[in-house]
Formats: sequence, C-alpha cells, structure tokens
Amino acid sequence: MNAPSRPARPPQAPPIAMLAELTHRCPLACPYCSNPLQLTRREAELSTETWARVFREAAGLGVLQLHLSGGEPASRPDLVALVRAAREAGLYTNLITSGIGLTPARLAELDAAGLDHIQLSLQGVRADVADHIGGYQGGFARKMLLADAIRELGLPLTINAVMHRHNLDDLPESFALAAKLGARRIEVACVQFQGWALKNRAALQPTREQVEMAKAEVSKARAEYAGTLAIDFVPPDYFADFPKACMNGWGSTGLNINPEGKVLPCHAAEIIPGLDFWNVAGHSLAEIWQGPAFNAYRGTDWLPDLCRSCERVGIDYGGCRCQAMAIAGDPGATDPVCRKSPHRAKLDALILAETAAEAPDFDYRRMPKPERDTAG
Ligand code: FES
Repeated sequence: MNAPSRPARPPQAPPIAMLAELTHRCPLACPYCSNPLQLTRREAELSTETWARVFREAAGLGVLQLHLSGGEPASRPDLVALVRAAREAGLYTNLITSGIGLTPARLAELDAAGLDHIQLSLQGVRADVADHIGGYQGGFARKMLLADAIRELGLPLTINAVMHRHNLDDLPESFALAAKLGARRIEVACVQFQGWALKNRAALQPTREQVEMAKAEVSKARAEYAGTLAIDFVPPDYFADFPKACMNGWGSTGLNINPEGKVLPCHAAEIIPGLDFWNVAGHSLAEIWQGPAFNAYRGTDWLPDLCRSCERVGIDYGGCRCQAMAIAGDPGATDPVCRKSPHRAKLDALILAETAAEAPDFDYRRMPKPERDTAG
C-alpha cells in the first residue's frame, strides 16, 4: 500500500529528540521488545565514525536530546566513544539499557565521557519473574549490582518498567524498588504492541481488572512518593477510548535511526509498506527530515474525514499509524483504538478473546541465524 501523494508542504520545524538504535544485539530476549522482527546483524551496523557524523548533523539540525538505545547499547564495544562524540556535538545523552554488559568500571568511563542520564529497564521485581521475562538467567541480580554502581556515581537514574499480564500485579513493588534503587523517576509503560510485542500480544495482553488496578495504584503511589519519585504512566491504549498522540504526531518532534542507518519517523514504521526510508549513508539528516517518509503522515491534512472533523484532531493527530496498519491493515486509517473508528469492534473482540484465554508461551526475541554457506 503506497502512502498517498501530497502537495508540496512548507519545511517542518526541526526535531527535538533522536533515538539512536546503536545495535539490535542484546543478551536479553524480552518478548515485549518493540524492535522489528527482522533484526539487524552486527556486520550491518553503522561504524563509530558514521554515528559521530550523524550526531553532529543532528545537533546542527536542532536536536537537543539523544537517546542511545538498542537492542542493548552496551553490546557496542565503542559505547564510551559514542557518548563522547555525542557530548562533543553538544547533545544531551540518555542511555537506555538493561544494564547487562555494563560494569562499574565501564560505567565510570561513560560518566567521564559525559553521559547525562541512565534509563535502566526492569523486567520484574523478583529474580524468578524478571529472568523468565528477559529470557536471561542471572540478569536481575546483575541489574541490581549495576543500580548500586549508578547510585554511587551519582548519575541521574530513571527506571523503565514495561508492564503486561505477567508483572502488572507487582506494580506497588515496582515503585518501592525504584525508590530503593535511588531512581528519581519511574516510567511505567504498559506494553505497546509493536515488533516482537505484537507477535507476543496474546501472551502479554493484560486483563481489564489488571488495568483498573494499575490506574488506582498509580494514583496512590503518586501521592505516596510525591517529592521523591516522579511517576510517568503510559496506560495500555487498547483499553482507552481515544488514541495516543504517537510521536506527538508523525514527523513533528523526533526521529529514530536503526542500527544500519535507516531513518524512521518512529521505531515501528518499517511495518508500513510503500514508505521510502532514506539512509544516513546517502542523505543528510536535514534532507531526510524533509523527505518522503517523514512527509507521508505529517500534519493533519492527510487524515480521513472522521479525524479531520473531530475536536480531538489537534490532540491525537489520528493516533498511531503503525497501530492502524497492524489492526486495520491501513496506515492511513483512524487509529482503531478510537471509539469512533469503524475498526474499534475488531479491537474489542481481540481484547476479549486474548484476555479470556490462557496466556500462551513467550516467543522470545532472537537474532536471525547466520546464513549457511551452501556453495559447493
Ligand atoms: Fe509508528 Fe505509532 S509506532 S506511528
């Protein structure tokens, strides 16, 4: 399905934030990962020099914040050099990590290179649950040791907890653990069904009771931890009445770069057929930002009548294009989460079926097997 052609539009204001997926390699195998099913192999990853050039271009374009992500960014041996390059470019740097692959010594090097902030993922509050979800034995214990090292260094820490059917009941304990680890903020994000998470949706789908409980626990915890721990909560949007303003609107404030240098308007955009994602190898970031993939669903002119005539158009911009693709099979449709969407009944039926059934086993995230040499 091709994105509709549009008349020329005025240049878009620059982005504020950039997510750099340095690698898709990761020791963990979380089934809720938002990375695409087709993961990039090490050989195809951008070099240190190319990333450094991209960071300079980003700063020149107007980007202020750089989020270093993956996969597990610590799987890159040049992570310290990359952080240094980003800081030299003048970017605020945030490392999004599982902590596996970082040692106290490497952490100190990152600190010295100018790392501004760490976002540490939490798969669960107990080793058995966390290691099962992450598919990595001993991961929880190593993460706790690393959190101690982060606290000792005084690096600002946010805990990032992706919640779903298997850990939502432990929400109060997640707040308590984040406070104990010295985090200033916890982001409780109910799983967004993209990439591997979409593949594992039936296993991860929370029940309606869990969702209601989570909302009540968040309100309680915000009062309890006021002044000590900031709490961000991303509710599961399948259960909402209106869609989220995904990426604050397509191509409005942020861009993502995948490990091989393709620049995407959001992390899941590759599921949308017909879009031409330019690579940093062939274009400058400034060209890409005004290019066809970013203009495809920018603004509100392209929206279906249902959205354009809606009083919420300036709030949610029609919702998430990747979700419209995943549920409705049409990236140009109103997000099926919206109560006004003709596809909402499909989403309700899906929630009902998945929450009534027993959760299937996880299909863990995995890298593609090396290609066999079949010659001879
Ligand atoms: Fe792609 Fe929402 S994840 S637009």
